[in-house]
Amino acid sequence: MSVAQQTRRGEVTLRDLSKSFRLNGQPLQVLRNLSLDVRSGEVLAIVGPSGCGKTTLLRVLAGLEQPDRGEVLIDGHAVQGVGTERAIIFQEPRLLPWLTVLGNVSFGLQVRGKSAAEAEARARHCIRLVGLADFEDAYPRQLSGGMAQRVGIARALTVQPEILLLDEPLGALDAMTKQAMQEELTRIWREEQVTMILVTHDLEEAIFLADRVMVMQKGGTTPPRLIDVDLPRPRDRSEDRFVALRRRLMQEFGLH
Ligand SMILES: Nc1ncnc2c1ncn2[C@@H]1O[C@H](COP(=O)(O)OP(=O)(O)OP(=O)(O)O)[C@@H](O)[C@H]1O
Ligand SMILES: [Mg+2]
Repeated sequence: MSVAQQTRRGEVTLRDLSKSFRLNGQPLQVLRNLSLDVRSGEVLAIVGPSGCGKTTLLRVLAGLEQPDRGEVLIDGHAVQGVGTERAIIFQEPRLLPWLTVLGNVSFGLQVRGKSAAEAEARARHCIRLVGLADFEDAYPRQLSGGMAQRVGIARALTVQPEILLLDEPLGALDAMTKQAMQEELTRIWREEQVTMILVTHDLEEAIFLADRVMVMQKGGTTPPRLIDVDLPRPRDRSEDRFVALRRRLMQEFGLH
């Protein structure tokens, strides 16, 4: 692979993307002429009011939903449908209850035709990465919410995606677990060198994790605003600049 290709891994471009649904016979415009460049290895957080189209955008990016107009480019190439260069992580990990942690994480690779030995070796690596090496043989019912979500993250990482799409991945966790997982996500992002696009309703989480925060509005009539988070990592939530940025974001939302 050439140097130019290496530096472009995980670059996402949205060109003039529009998406509407029909609701009670009426068209409902959710995304309107959305254009955006996400750099290779960047963390982009997406925030915005409920129903503004965050999940829709992520599903279009994942290839689970077709846009009406416009296109999604990965590393400069237009993509259609799903692909292993993108992995999506939902709020609930949706684990298979009859499989162990190792089984859940290696399952997808086996379905894709990897041998059991190969799939398990890769799965073990990913399970270690999320800090669950001691729980390989546990069943989903024996895990806490945070641990189950870690299994979901490990499963997404098995295919070595260039791009991780996360839809409120920590939304169901308690505050303490959430903070620990935010630190883990930062570590995973650094170690795996992935591009991350993360939907969250937690402004502090957005500032803690992201290089840029995109603020979406309802109806797609106002183009989303992009805010740079120009803070060195590891980030300190109590630092002045962090607090000031959080206040600014809250004002964008009309909260004080
Ligand atoms: N399959 C669908 N069919 C019809 N309408 C849909 C469909 N999926 C989403 N919508 C509508 O599109 C709009 C955006 O939904 P979406 O789930 O993207 O919002 P969201 O920003 O993720 O909200 P939340 O913060 O509550 O998760 C909503 O009005 C929703 O009703
Ligand atoms: Mg949503």
